[in-house]
Parts: sequence; C-alpha cells; structure tokens
Amino acid sequence: MLYLEILGNLPEMARDEAKAMLELAGGEIAGQDYLFLKLDAGEEAFPCLDRLSLAHEYGELVVEADSIEELLEKAREVEWPIRGTFKVDTETMANCRHDTLDLPRKLGAVIHARGFRVNLSRPDTLVRVYCGERVYAGIRLRFFDPKDFEGRKAHHRPFFRPISLHPRVSRALVNLTKARKEILDPFMGAGGILMEAGLLGLKVYGVDIKPEMVEGAETNLRHYGIKDYTLKLGDATKLEELFPNKEFEAIATDPPYGTSATLAGRRRDELYRKALESMYRVLKKGGRLAIAFPADFDGKAEAEKLGFRLVGRYYQRVHKSLDRYFYVFEK
Ligand SMILES: C[S@@+](CC[C@H](N)C(=O)[O-])C[C@H]1O[C@@H](n2cnc3c(N)ncnc32)[C@H](O)[C@@H]1O
Repeated sequence: MLYLEILGNLPEMARDEAKAMLELAGGEIAGQDYLFLKLDAGEEAFPCLDRLSLAHEYGELVVEADSIEELLEKAREVEWPIRGTFKVDTETMANCRHDTLDLPRKLGAVIHARGFRVNLSRPDTLVRVYCGERVYAGIRLRFFDPKDFEGRKAHHRPFFRPISLHPRVSRALVNLTKARKEILDPFMGAGGILMEAGLLGLKVYGVDIKPEMVEGAETNLRHYGIKDYTLKLGDATKLEELFPNKEFEAIATDPPYGTSATLAGRRRDELYRKALESMYRVLKKGGRLAIAFPADFDGKAEAEKLGFRLVGRYYQRVHKSLDRYFYVFEK
C-alpha cells in the first residue's frame, strides 16, 4: 500500500489527477483522509505517480490506526523498511483529531528500540506521520520539490508573457487527460502546457493565431530541452484543416479569457463554441479534453451539446475579476 499527500489549494483536482495517473498504472485510490490518500498500488505505479504536479509527496504506508496509542502499539510489531538512519516527521492536517505533541519522540523511541539509528539533521530515511481523522505512518519515497515548478514559471522563461497558467496547473491539465503519447494545445500562447507535457516525454502539438506566440513557444520548448514538437500558426476553430487526417489522443488548453488583445478580435463565447466543435472533431473516441473557461461561460452545457461527457470540474478564483473552472471532458 502506498500513500500520497496532495496539495490543498485545488484538492479535488489534485485527487482526480492522482486517480488519472493511477488508472494509467492499473491502481486506484483506496481511501482518503483530507489531503492524505491511501493508494492501492505498488512499485509499478511509480513512473505514473512521478508525473504528478498537485502533490507534495508519496511513500510506502507502513501502519494506520484509530489512535496514537494503537499506532505506537502497531509500530512495535511491523517491519520498518528503513534504510540507514531515520527521523520522524509529523504532518498535522487541518482535520487532525489527535494529540500529536511529543509523537515524533515517542514513535522515534519505538523505532529506535527496533534497532534503527536516529539522525535528526541528515536522516537517510524520513518516517512521515500524518494526523487526520485517523493516524498513519509511512516512509517517504518521493518529495515533489516546489522549486522544480517555480523555475518554469512564466517570468523564468526566455519568452515571457504574463498569460500563462502556473506550471503545476498546466501539468495537472495534461495528467487529467491521461495522455500517454501525445497532446495538442490549440491556444498554446507561450507554450506553458506544452512545456509540461514535453517534459513528461509526450509528443506535443501546438497552435496559436499569433506568429509571435508560435515563435515564442518554440523558443521556450527548446530552452527546456523539448524537441518532439509540431507548432502551427492558425486558428483553433479550424483544427481539422491544420492537421488533416490526424486524430489526437488528448487535448489540454487554456483559451483567452476576454481581453481584446488575446481574443484577436473575436467574440469570446462564439470563439469558445467553435473551438470546442473543432476540438471534438479532431479528438479520438475515448480521448480527453482538459480546458479552462471563465466561470460565466457554461462549458459543461456547451460541451455536452456536442457529445462530450463531463469527467470533472474544478473551481478556481484567480483574482477579483477572474474566476474560472477547469473542466475535463471525454469524447
Ligand atoms: C490564455 S493564452 C494561452 C496561455 C498558455 N496556456 C500558456 O501557458 O502560455 C491564449 C492564447 O490563445 C491565442 N488565440 C486567441 N485566439 C485564437 C484562435 N482563434 N486560435 C488560436 N489561438 C488563439 C492567443 O494569441 C493567446 O496566445
């Protein structure tokens, strides 16, 4: 059994991102306690879990209990897969119902008594304790360093436009499509979504109506070492003309929200409807589309009219005058 700690700012999207990646690996979510997920999956899921973006860490779940006393009792019996020295580190979640004060010391003493050495400054193994409705202890296997994502934020890229999504959100959109091989972004802008997809090893296809964006996205992709891309100057409402005889496994995109500059003179809602139609036509049957729309556009109704099925919808307030939904649809 594995555990996964998801991030708290878009928790439902984070859980569904994990679910999508587990489905690729043949595993599933076995339980949830606030931001702590129990995963019915083994080592074979690591490559898919390593793709995650809205996650803090994952590891091997060793014990779980209804109380601290029960946790300590079980800790005396179980096998601890500890390598070298260890340290106990506690995560007290907002829903924690137990008194975790002194728990690192108590659990540390139990594990020490089993023959392992403590090292508080440079441990080889981190034993993580999570307190929520129940208590859990596991071994951290992978930590998702925020610095990896921060380094790809818009202002760190050679071609900079302030229109980009946060890299974590871009990657989550890619993952929610369950893409294995390739992805299309028909409103690619500076290429933020394509960068994340390319770094996951997917072949990326992009479209933008502005020549400077096509050039800029290419500059950004190359800067991050992504070579397997096809970028086109063109209109997201005419994808079948841009890619004749091509059907895409997945689409992830963030269309313009309504400033005249990014809409290139088109009426917003008409652009969204026409682009949805075109995306539907070029998407494979069973393929997924992950897309952002401002909250005042009913993306669900418009997509369902075309035959899409809603798989997930997640709300995000960006600032006073912009709130949006991220949608995941299946054809
Ligand atoms: C919100 S931005 C996308 C940002 C992108 N996700 C990123 O991370 O950089 C929307 C982009 O859509 C482009 N655009 C607007 N109308 C378009 C159309 N009809 N077809 C293709 N691209 C269009 C704009 O030029 C703009 O670059």
